[in-house]
Amino acid sequence: METGIVIGAGIMGTALARHFLKCGHRIALIDPDEAARAAAAAQIGPSEEFITAPTPEALPAAWGPCHFVIEAVPERLELKRQVLGALSRQFGPDTLIASNTSGLRAADLARDMTHPERFAIAHFFNPADLIPAVELVPAPATSPQTMDLWEALLTRSGKKVARLRADLPGFVANRLQHAMARECFHLLEAGVIDAEGLDTLTRYALGVRLALIGPILQRDLNGIDTHHAIARYLYPDLAANTTPAQVLDDKCAAGMLGRKTAQGFYTWDARQERRAQRVEALLPAVIALARQIETEENDDAEMGEQARGL
Ligand SMILES: NC(=O)c1ccc[n+]([C@@H]2O[C@H](COP(=O)([O-])OP(=O)(O)OC[C@H]3O[C@@H](n4cnc5c(N)ncnc54)[C@H](O)[C@@H]3O)[C@@H](O)[C@H]2O)c1
Repeated sequence: METGIVIGAGIMGTALARHFLKCGHRIALIDPDEAARAAAAAQIGPSEEFITAPTPEALPAAWGPCHFVIEAVPERLELKRQVLGALSRQFGPDTLIASNTSGLRAADLARDMTHPERFAIAHFFNPADLIPAVELVPAPATSPQTMDLWEALLTRSGKKVARLRADLPGFVANRLQHAMARECFHLLEAGVIDAEGLDTLTRYALGVRLALIGPILQRDLNGIDTHHAIARYLYPDLAANTTPAQVLDDKCAAGMLGRKTAQGFYTWDARQERRAQRVEALLPAVIALARQIETEENDDAEMGEQARGL
């Protein structure tokens, strides 16, 4: 059992605490906001291996030394830099430190840290206790040993780790997500399709495959020459705007922020809310399907080794 500290008891921090507790770690969850601490504790439930505190300094001495710390405070560079700098001064160089930023650069985050070689970005996805992938991103000062240790810790906890070789804004997953979203908003604004049609088409055309086959393997299946021919005539016609779409500006200005304000691209009535809850309930089944491919591949490899007498 390792001792971990999660900084920030919001959406991500609470799910991260739940995830690492489930994996048998001892977890302290830190938040200066009493209401956030109470809400997180209520969601997680009582456990001897779990504690909350307003600051890391307020933890009882029995909670040190700590093996790893994950920062999940709001996405503001100055705040994160200050929190990470303070953590690096409080904990010795053997404590691994990570940030769960959605896309800030690791080099900027680590600027005020002592021993920045033990720091990396571990970008989890919401809900962090369910979605398997984590992007692991090095800062320029991150040591290869730190990347290995984080990868091993996350893998042991059941995560699928994607190790990046460069520190770039948005990492990989958010870059892909925004590239697709830019085209979606362009098509909505042009009146080519409505929001519901676009969501349905994406789910049934791309989504059903994407959980099982990534976009690169899919190109091999479809034929790279075909993809190349389409790319030649299609790229000049794709959205290439460098500022957010007008429809996003308008929704934000009108306070139509989605589920949290009951109005976004959809109206969040009881039916819509039930649908979102059904989707959340089905996620584990989709993840199990995605993992099944790998389990079968591992079984194949094992049978091959047995057949060769290894
Ligand atoms: N929400 C998502 O879908 C998502 C997904 C991936 C990554 N992230 C990233 O995770 C981080 C947290 O996001 P969130 O959605 O959980 O935010 P959130 O607003 O739900 O929670 C942030 C929490 O941090 C607390 N906090 C503020 N200052 C603090 C401090 N000095 N020390 C300790 N706690 C402090 C706040 O009180 C709040 O409870 C952000 O960097 C975000 O970009 C979010």
